[in-house]
Amino acid sequence: MKNDIKISPSILASDYANLQSELERISTSDLIHVDVMDGHFVPNISIGAPVVASIKKVCNVPFDVHLMISNPIDYVEDFANAGADIICFHTECDSDVEKTVDKIISLGKKPALAIKPATPIDDVVKYLDKLSMVLVMTVEPGFGGQSFMESTMPKIEAIRKINPDIDIEVDGGINPETIKIASRAGANVFVAGSAVFKSENPAQTIALLKKNAADAQ
Ligand code: DX5
Ligand code: ZN
Repeated sequence: MKNDIKISPSILASDYANLQSELERISTSDLIHVDVMDGHFVPNISIGAPVVASIKKVCNVPFDVHLMISNPIDYVEDFANAGADIICFHTECDSDVEKTVDKIISLGKKPALAIKPATPIDDVVKYLDKLSMVLVMTVEPGFGGQSFMESTMPKIEAIRKINPDIDIEVDGGINPETIKIASRAGANVFVAGSAVFKSENPAQTIALLKKNAADAQ
């Protein structure tokens, strides 16, 4: 079956001094990808729940919040209250994965689970029935602007075989060319930071990404 294609621009690549106008540039996107980094799970520190709450007030597009933090269970409530719609965290974190998924569900939000490039799919497959989405990282988490790792594609193919309906997201190095490879493998939700925000016309880039993903499906 064909899965709905969604483009989720990552505001990590946007101008944090002008978040409201940056969000207006991508108002045609399906989701807004918010990268949260704690300086512990990954080397960088980005933004937290107060910023999410502020930008939620000026944006109607659903928020896809990617927690790259060591203890997500301690923070999912803050992000739920701040307006996250999808809350994604990593299987490699220190929190109990199932309890964290259950907490996100009890908060009325959509749970998603992410795996780094070297993490096997078994770590997400056992929770698949409870998840709204799986995120297969196509770079090592922590930085924008890295190169797409094609070596992660067999994991997407394998998850898609197990579940034809679940949303499979890819994150890292997605551009109008690499999106075709990920779409062909079975991904249907595409994060793009640099490709969207560093382009002259983000709305046009979003449309091109969507077209290339659809053509490759
Ligand atoms: C990486 C982040 C990504 C990043 C993607 O740790 O999770 O969401 O912003 O950036 P690009 O699209 O530039 O690779
Ligand atoms: Zn991300």
